[in-house]
Amino acid sequence: MVKKTSLFNCQECKTTYTKWQGKCDSCGAWNSILENNNQTSHASKRTQPIKYVSLAETSEVAPRISCGISEFDRVVGDGLVQGSAILVGGDPGIGKSTILLQIAAAISNEATCAYISGEESIQQVTTRAKRLGLSMNPVQLASANNIRDIAATLDIPTPPKLVIVDSIQTMYLEELESAPGSVSQVRACADALIRLAKVRGFIVILVGHVTKEGTIAGPRILEHMVDTVLYFEGERGHQFRLLRAIKNRFGPTDEIGVFEMTGAGLKEVENPSMLFLSERHDDVAGAAVFAGIEGTRPVLVEIQALVGASSLGTPRRAVLGWDSNRLAMVLAVLETRCGLNFSGRDVYLNVAGGLKITEPAADLAVASALVSAILEQPLEANTVIFGEIGLAGEIRSVRNNELRLKEAAKLGFKKVWLPIREISEAEKMQTNPHSLVETWGIKKLNEILQFFNVADTNLIDMRATTR
Ligand code: TYD
Ligand code: MG
Repeated sequence: MVKKTSLFNCQECKTTYTKWQGKCDSCGAWNSILENNNQTSHASKRTQPIKYVSLAETSEVAPRISCGISEFDRVVGDGLVQGSAILVGGDPGIGKSTILLQIAAAISNEATCAYISGEESIQQVTTRAKRLGLSMNPVQLASANNIRDIAATLDIPTPPKLVIVDSIQTMYLEELESAPGSVSQVRACADALIRLAKVRGFIVILVGHVTKEGTIAGPRILEHMVDTVLYFEGERGHQFRLLRAIKNRFGPTDEIGVFEMTGAGLKEVENPSMLFLSERHDDVAGAAVFAGIEGTRPVLVEIQALVGASSLGTPRRAVLGWDSNRLAMVLAVLETRCGLNFSGRDVYLNVAGGLKITEPAADLAVASALVSAILEQPLEANTVIFGEIGLAGEIRSVRNNELRLKEAAKLGFKKVWLPIREISEAEKMQTNPHSLVETWGIKKLNEILQFFNVADTNLIDMRATTR
């Protein structure tokens, strides 16, 4: 029981004391200190010792629920964990509501599921469900914004197993004066829902919009509060959508799920490489196929480069889907170690299909696309490339080679340029028995010039190529 101790206040200057005294030390007034019966000292509250549990005793694993969409399951780490909080962020209109309605419908046949929309009326959600062919699924729909009402409805012994709140920016707590979507509202609403989810054991998925300007309280402040952060990305003009795990307490991060936006909602893409390469023309100069790894999965993607004479004092360097600093580095290495002259030329680089690549393993493919573009010679068809470039022009080894090689072979590619350390001397330029592709080990960046016809070009300073 908490022991009640009174506090004393000076009636003149409001200074608080824990015991009575005749003179106020703060303002010097006499007999101004009176007991305040409304306040108790926090210091007087008795503390509760915390209990330890041995790690060995806590072998219980929280059960997971499969959400019926395998791409989504994989990204969250083999299903949704009971009692966890997930944040799905993304630009407005990217397809967050669509995918979550699809998940709600898929789960609702196995477990109870509520979809609470603060943005759309029940009729609008129903119309969307009809369009997606999901109107017969037993999802509990609600249109609400008041967090107190929502929490009171969910604070029951058997709440739904999954609760989707779309979006957290439209929810509000009456006690706070700020508008819905403000930092304090978003934080307080999310906190209320997440606490309840832990107590009642349901899974809560929060939708959060990110704006380009970042003026509205975006999901950034929520990232610390939830267990899993997923970002739904993609170019509005492209039909591909990528679901990426940024933070995951219950599974791997950097895993991606690939979806295609169709007239009937989002469809899973089981073989992303096939999709990213579907519109490829292999006889065009400036294109190279990179064998990348996204999470645990190999993904082949086309890197496109365009190099042209510049009319600007400072030539333009434009990059989509890759890091512009890395492009600058690759260009510098191509100039100093291979003797190629990019000064006075505009350089454009694009990762086809709207994918964003972060791996340094893409360096060699980018360099090959740039060489192909400046020399105006297409790369040999059916070639896949990967490897990191060092400042000395050396090609450094990268992880997961076997996966990259296998994916290349699976998609019918015949040749792979890769760091020399990855293949043994015996396998060099021979058929790799494991992957059925011809592997070309590259040690120095200038070796890739051997794959091009450089005899009659004046773009190359031969002194640099021998360095
Ligand atoms: P939505 O899920 O509402 O986006 P968010 O919740 O992230 O704001 O998706 C809206 C876009 O998706 C809209 O531009 C139309 C498109 N869309 C389709 O192309 N096909 C469909 O079946 C659906 C439902 C939406
Ligand atoms: Mg929406």
